Amino acid sequence: CGIVGILGTGREAAPVLLDALKRLEYRGYDSAGIATVDHGRLDRRRAPGKLTALAAELEAAPLSGPSGIGHTRWATHGAATMTNAHPHAASRVAVVHNGIIENFRELRARLASEGHSFVTQTDTETIVHLCQDMMDRGLGPVEAASETLRQLEGAFALAFLFEGEDDLIVAARRGSPLAIGWGEGEMFVGSDALALAPMTTRITYLEEGDWAVVTRAGAEIHDEAGRIANRPVQVVSPSSVQIDKAGHRHFMAKEIHEQPTVSTYALAHYVDAATGLIRSEAEAVDFAQVDRLVLVACGTGHYACAIAKYWFERIARLPVECDIASEFRYREPPLSGRDAAVFVSQSGETADTLAALRYAAPHVGHVLSVVNVAESSIARESQIVLPILAGPEIGVASTKAFTSQLVTLGALAILAARQRGAIDEDEERRLVRILSEAPRKLSEAIACAPEIEAAAITLAEARDVLYLGRGPLFPLAMEGALKLKEISYIHAEGYASGELKHGPIALVDSSVPVVVLAPRDGLFEKTISNMQEVMARGGRIVLFTDAAGAEAAAEGAARVVVMPDCDPFIAPIVYAAPAQLLAYYAAAFLGKDVDQPRNLAKSVTVE
Ligand code: G6P
Repeated sequence: CGIVGILGTGREAAPVLLDALKRLEYRGYDSAGIATVDHGRLDRRRAPGKLTALAAELEAAPLSGPSGIGHTRWATHGAATMTNAHPHAASRVAVVHNGIIENFRELRARLASEGHSFVTQTDTETIVHLCQDMMDRGLGPVEAASETLRQLEGAFALAFLFEGEDDLIVAARRGSPLAIGWGEGEMFVGSDALALAPMTTRITYLEEGDWAVVTRAGAEIHDEAGRIANRPVQVVSPSSVQIDKAGHRHFMAKEIHEQPTVSTYALAHYVDAATGLIRSEAEAVDFAQVDRLVLVACGTGHYACAIAKYWFERIARLPVECDIASEFRYREPPLSGRDAAVFVSQSGETADTLAALRYAAPHVGHVLSVVNVAESSIARESQIVLPILAGPEIGVASTKAFTSQLVTLGALAILAARQRGAIDEDEERRLVRILSEAPRKLSEAIACAPEIEAAAITLAEARDVLYLGRGPLFPLAMEGALKLKEISYIHAEGYASGELKHGPIALVDSSVPVVVLAPRDGLFEKTISNMQEVMARGGRIVLFTDAAGAEAAAEGAARVVVMPDCDPFIAPIVYAAPAQLLAYYAAAFLGKDVDQPRNLAKSVTVE
């Protein structure tokens, strides 16, 4: 969910909040709402569905007042209805909330027995009644909010607005990020700098456990123990928070096409142009002293890790354990001081990944993160931050962050190989040269868009699609299937080519397209045999391979898309682009909401 708040001067709060919520829609779009205070009077408007519904509601029934809070919701407790939309309110307080209140059932039972009546299924409503209860007992708004916070368990970010208080927002951060923005005679709160970008670039990030009393005069920040805390004001660069579609129909298309440019930023960061060798913040780790690398992430980041596992093992001879964060954190895996753990997250805020980091940090020798948002929670809690420098990613389906994660992890694998003596300097230079070809090869791959679009239209008719790959192209097959699922709602599975015969081949008939990712590498012949097994059973093949591969194996395939030749090392980066475009064109052809697919959110700050 996304949170924003404003204590404005000389302008109405509601339109500013609405605009800020647009920038937060990537955090969820199940419902939205705004509350304002005008001459002491608290009022709110809410609407299920996307922000356009709230905008229409505000058009019909405007909200006045210079102070307010807003919310865009990704539903956790309670369906995406009007009643469950935020802000939640009792007579004297309104609250917007991101996260989960774990003890809300107990609190609600107690409050209900004391006469409070609840109208929603949300955990948030409990916060409102708890706070109202304190105020009914005579506490002032700030004391009531702070006492409420004391009784809440769970991970959340909150903003409170009060009846009778035109110059007060109480904001709290526990587990979910929240920032305070400093304007000219105005103050803001927001889930991130992006939400606050048009209003201010002067930001204070609340630390874990902090809560703040915000008035037009400034913010008084308290730490978890209630002491006044001094948190720095940072100036974020406006360019890092710019967003527009640059002429593309969708952010996803723009972000796919940006990859040849954006991937050079990570390369420029990790390659020393003068020597042709890797330079990295991770040089502080001595990988010769590391026995095992632990790679943890969610979603697309996890597939980047699964690809990188092949690189670390093959190039650096470093054993790798790779897991999804939601499993890792509860599995309580044994860890040692000779492990280095790497957490990969575009947003740097994914709750499961952050929890996995916190589980690992006391046990492992090194905590590294690979993030796109440098000020994020995951970045701030790791010893070493490796930025991917992909710029804001708006499309819910991750694309450019994925390839930039791969470039960053590829560079890290080369560094680890050097430190472990697995490669000499010449070999390091050779690998760096190959990695540096990724942007150009990505651009050549994207140039195949017309053929990929034609292939996508075939997929769009299917109910199920299989993706096959071997070696590092196997996790890419899973990533390709994920892309198709998330934006086109066509069921898809990624499989290791060699595993197909152990089950999923039973699904194959002429109605199930099979996408084969097969660069002409050492495993090409084997993948092609698996492809033939599919064709023998009437399966329709969409083959992505290079010119040599096409010459050797195109016969019988329903479609062949000829990719640029590339070294096997970077094939998973180069073949990512067609996998993304395939999903993109299929979803666009079906008229789906490509940038904001149903049920998903860009940044998932609940577990
Ligand atoms: C969400 C997004 C995915 C993303 C995953 C992990 O589910 O929809 O695209 O891969 O979270 O996000 P992170 O920001 O940690 O990379």
